[in-house]
Amino acid sequence: MKIFLDTANIREIEEVASWGILSGVTTNPTLMAREEGADFEETVKKIASLVDGPISAETVSEDADGMVKEGMKFAAWHPNVVIKVPSTIEGLKATAWLKREGIRTNVTLCFNANQALLAARAGAFVVSPFVGRLDDISEPGMDLIQEIAEVFGMDSEIDTQILAASIRHPRHIIEAAKAGADIATVPFGVLQQSMKHPLTEAGIERFLDDWRKREAVQIATVGTE
Ligand code: G3P
Repeated sequence: MKIFLDTANIREIEEVASWGILSGVTTNPTLMAREEGADFEETVKKIASLVDGPISAETVSEDADGMVKEGMKFAAWHPNVVIKVPSTIEGLKATAWLKREGIRTNVTLCFNANQALLAARAGAFVVSPFVGRLDDISEPGMDLIQEIAEVFGMDSEIDTQILAASIRHPRHIIEAAKAGADIATVPFGVLQQSMKHPLTEAGIERFLDDWRKREAVQIATVGTE
């Protein structure tokens, strides 16, 4: 399963790109709004210069025509730009239209397997089930990933990838991989958290401590010779 970063923050992207694990980036209007004063086009182009993989840019129109217009504009910024449209009928129309233009889409805000199946049939490059937001309303988000993976697996014509979104904690990443997601888009803090373990910290401390002690013994031994 590939790891994408769910952010529009350039510093976070630069940092995670240096870890050697980053396969793409997803942005959304909320994440862009957090980057006060940042221009959308410049941000997307900057991300494209840092990451060699799909970069999702979200449309805000409510009708297919508007989504397609926005999508064509964003896609011209860089070949790696993928257009995010919502899991609605207008989103399906835009997906099919953009597909005919050779532009990839990320059908987002997916909360049931029907939305995912229809998005795939319309030609979506990826669908984004929102795991955390389903958990928030006491519906098991990970079950949706599993169900979509099962449905997609039954149809050899579907090559749409499953992008697990709304990832809230490190366990979600592993559960998404086991449930059959192709990609998980993860917030920076969750990625940092996922590399932490108290036994790793304690182990490093102990190795360093033992190494210092060994060096101290060697220095003392040399001193008495
Ligand atoms: O990119 C969309 C999604 O990951 C948002 O997550 O935490 O706002 O539900 P969240």
